[in-house]
Amino acid sequence: MEPKIKIEHLGKNFFSRRQTIKALDDVNMEFAPGEFVSIVGPSGCGKSTIIRMIDDLIKPTSGTITIDGFTYDNKKEIPQSFIKKLGFVFQLPNLYPWLTVRQNLYLPLKVYGMMDSEHVHHVEDLLEMTNLTEVGNIYPNQISGGTAQRIGVIRGMVHKPEMLMMDEPFGALDDETREKLNMEMLNIWKQTGMTIIFITHNVSEAVLMSQRVYVMQANPGHVKAEVKIEFDEERSLELQHTKKFINYCNQIEELIGKVDLNDVV
Ligand SMILES: Nc1ncnc2c1ncn2[C@@H]1O[C@H](COP(=O)(O)OP(=O)(O)OP(=O)(O)O)[C@@H](O)[C@H]1O
Ligand SMILES: [Mg+2]
Repeated sequence: MEPKIKIEHLGKNFFSRRQTIKALDDVNMEFAPGEFVSIVGPSGCGKSTIIRMIDDLIKPTSGTITIDGFTYDNKKEIPQSFIKKLGFVFQLPNLYPWLTVRQNLYLPLKVYGMMDSEHVHHVEDLLEMTNLTEVGNIYPNQISGGTAQRIGVIRGMVHKPEMLMMDEPFGALDDETREKLNMEMLNIWKQTGMTIIFITHNVSEAVLMSQRVYVMQANPGHVKAEVKIEFDEERSLELQHTKKFINYCNQIEELIGKVDLNDVV
């Protein structure tokens, strides 16, 4: 099967007056249609830079990105029709405080010229799917941080993207809320069949949700390993207590090279 997204020999240098920062070097990744893949790795290894290049917000220094068979690079731009296939969710929801939740969700539809009944219905479906219909008409300062984050997740999907890039979407949340949203996210993924690229520092949430995990390293950013996550049973929070789950986490932590501060002292 052709990959939905393919990244080949991707490199990125940032130039400042004094130095060149080699942010990424020869990164190769593939994402199959409908696959849920996480990217983990230390701060500065270039995770966010990769998805900013997929969105064509910044240009790669070398290499190519191919979406649905269309290839773009340093010189060639991604067509607008392809940008609409992509959705983004960031660490902070950044909702506009003067707009109600529902108006915030309509905003991307207005920007994309998609404010039609199909998509307005879709907003209602998403609100219902996440039990948030009742907050639709209230303002962001009246909802909790966890709820605001869920709205941020939904906002990335109102235009029915085929691919969703999530950059540490639950990084600012407490464990309990995060776990709840992890399960909600899995549910949404199953219902929509989107291809999801999920960036996180939390190895446990990567193992819980992903079919595959790319482990990156920094200086320069590159892919160190790729770990396939396979469970016979349905994904659930209980899975986190199984030996297999813990083994996956340990394997990935080791690949990242995390230092246990207890060992240092
Ligand atoms: N606009 C920029 N100008 C200069 N350097 C940049 C720019 N954007 C990113 N970098 C550098 O590129 C490298 C990769 O940054 P990036 O933000 O992609 O890392 P990351 O893996 O997402 O890190 P984190 O986990 O902290 O979010 C870092 O060294 C960063 O300082
Ligand atoms: Mg980042």
